[in-house]
Amino acid sequence: MDGAPETPKTGPQDRLSAALAEDMAAVNALIRARMASEHAPRIPEVTAHLIEAGGKRLRPMLTLAAARLCGYAGTDHQKLAATVEFIHTATLLHDDVVDESQRRRGRPTANLLWDNKSSVLVGDYLFARSFQLMVETGSLRVLDILANASAVIAEGEVLQLTAAQDLGTTEDTYLKVIRGKTAALFSAATEVGGVIAGVPEAQVRALYTYGDALGIAFQIADDLLDYGGSSATIGKNTGDDFRERKLTLPVIKAVAQATPEDRAFWVRTIEKGDQRDGDLEQALAIMARHGAMEAARADALRWSDTARAALTALPDHPLRDMLSDLASYVVARLS
Ligand code: IPE
Ligand code: IPE
Ligand code: MG
Ligand code: MG
Repeated sequence: MDGAPETPKTGPQDRLSAALAEDMAAVNALIRARMASEHAPRIPEVTAHLIEAGGKRLRPMLTLAAARLCGYAGTDHQKLAATVEFIHTATLLHDDVVDESQRRRGRPTANLLWDNKSSVLVGDYLFARSFQLMVETGSLRVLDILANASAVIAEGEVLQLTAAQDLGTTEDTYLKVIRGKTAALFSAATEVGGVIAGVPEAQVRALYTYGDALGIAFQIADDLLDYGGSSATIGKNTGDDFRERKLTLPVIKAVAQATPEDRAFWVRTIEKGDQRDGDLEQALAIMARHGAMEAARADALRWSDTARAALTALPDHPLRDMLSDLASYVVARLS
């Protein structure tokens, strides 16, 4: 069935979205205006499919909140927030091709409805559009941060590609992957909010640290939900990572403690890719036996603490409290 995934109505995201409603309406208008294309109707078809499905709009809210809590009074932060969501949407189009995923935001993926070619090319178009938007702010520093984040995201995705199926993948490599593919955009989103507001460097750094740690906690949680969530809640299919033979944190922790029998299971399913009915359930049982999910959840909680701690360097402001609650929420959705 189509339709946006369910989201709780009173979480910190909803409070942020209410506090930033005017800014967010301007961002959504910018997104709609800039995703249009005069010459290639396939572009608005694909982007509308994905953008109208909603999505949490977490990253643009981070930019808006960072700028506002730093006292910014202009409108360039709206352009930066739209830039960030365009980059995010472009990476989702590409990611669903790479992961051969079939559901996104509660809908069939673009690669399933159209084809891989359309997803790759429309993703490229959105990347280019995002660069045009950020150029309009006239800030070279902002361009530097977001261009760097775009490169780092791609690096993270490629590192993940080469680490897939490799049972020797360490927690250190996993951290590099998620810091690249996910946290880089979170930290860029918060950092540019501070930069556009012109706050002192210590505060820009605090915003960066908050975004980085939040992004890491968020991705660990997302990886846990891939094994434990419900498709209806996350709007994506579960079990994708196991099928794609990705070494995410709970698997890395379980492999590190494997008995010879467990190891034979991981070699067959992840290394050799010989997967049969019931294997996903068995993977879950092995991870549970080693407390791997719990240990990964504890790591996510520590990153969430790091994110909250970074906020103390920022001005006392209701938005700061909402960002703090958001850091708790991204891991609370695991319990
Ligand atoms: C999905 O991000 C990609 C990941 C980093 C896991 P979101 O979960 O923020 O996606 P939307 O925008 O809400 O659909
Ligand atoms: C998301 O990676 C990161 C990017 C889109 C760059 P995943 O592949 O882990 O995220 P989902 O589960 O498809 O959203
Ligand atoms: Mg994916
Ligand atoms: Mg992926």
